[in-house]
Amino acid sequence: MKFIQNLQEKWKVGGSQFWLIMLTFALGGSLSGRLCSFLLNLVFLEKNWAFWLVYPLFLTILWPFSVLFVSFFTGQFRFFKGYLSRVGAKVFGIGASVVAPSTVSAAPATSSVLSDALSFSSAAPIHIAIFASGTGSNARKIIEYFEGAGLKSTSSQVKVSLIVCNVPDAGVLAIAKEKGIPTLLINKNEFATTGYVESLHNADIQFIVLAGFLWKVPEVLVQAYQPGMKIDGALVNGKENVSKGIINIHPALLPKYGGKGMYGSRVHEAVIAAGEKESGITIHWVNEHYDEGGIIFQATCEVVSSDTPDTLADKIHALEHAHFAPTIAKLLG
Ligand code: GRF
Repeated sequence: MKFIQNLQEKWKVGGSQFWLIMLTFALGGSLSGRLCSFLLNLVFLEKNWAFWLVYPLFLTILWPFSVLFVSFFTGQFRFFKGYLSRVGAKVFGIGASVVAPSTVSAAPATSSVLSDALSFSSAAPIHIAIFASGTGSNARKIIEYFEGAGLKSTSSQVKVSLIVCNVPDAGVLAIAKEKGIPTLLINKNEFATTGYVESLHNADIQFIVLAGFLWKVPEVLVQAYQPGMKIDGALVNGKENVSKGIINIHPALLPKYGGKGMYGSRVHEAVIAAGEKESGITIHWVNEHYDEGGIIFQATCEVVSSDTPDTLADKIHALEHAHFAPTIAKLLG
């Protein structure tokens, strides 16, 4: 069902987790209703108008605690912690300019949906970090797009402020040097345990772009960069800085040809071996699973019988270079 699919993409969760979340909502709601009745029955002798006046107020206060309590048992505590803090932020106005990402799958017609769904406004620049471990051609395109007039028409400015890399001699590091952008060379154990969240927060990074980065993003980083999460200690123009999410680009049309081990020419080999007539690119939100987050944008190209993994890679790169930076601009603009 479309509604369920939309929610799964918005929350960036798979099928089984979605139903555990629904179960938590149901049990948490019912627990808060029972608790509320129990407590009010201690005070009120009958269910008069005052009872019904106080009831919704009590229910609203008890509901988040009940849901969090139940989420321990359904294994969804992390999800609800993030969910309730985002709801709290919206209701009480902390970081209220951010809403959760919405999912769309086709390019031109959806651009207004994208900017409506993620309308951020800030006079200070939005600092982004690009995670890359390869040649960095996408990183270069993004850097140069935002060096130029990419967001002329909006009040927001975007700045690539950090390049994160796990390969000491990767081409992307030379690009960072050429452009005068600070770099962070990361190691696998520390990445898996800390996600380098502190370093990213210290650099005021609000948005993360994976452009040819092969390591799985650890849960600690995914959670810290859920849209709307606070960037510790950072104040921009007197307003608290909040995360705007993590996105990735994949060189195929997800959900096909994605997942662990599906990267680089392996993807194009698989597409050609399967006799596909079409391939393309997918820009998507990042969650704890490889290539499974909600899809933001897709663009396609033809696969012809004379195509080799190399010729297909060239077509895919051309699509990436044309669409990646403008899609980021739409998300942040
Ligand atoms: C791109 O094809 C991207 O889809 C994939 O890794 C590649 C990176 O290429 N995730 P480059 O280093 O940006 O040239």
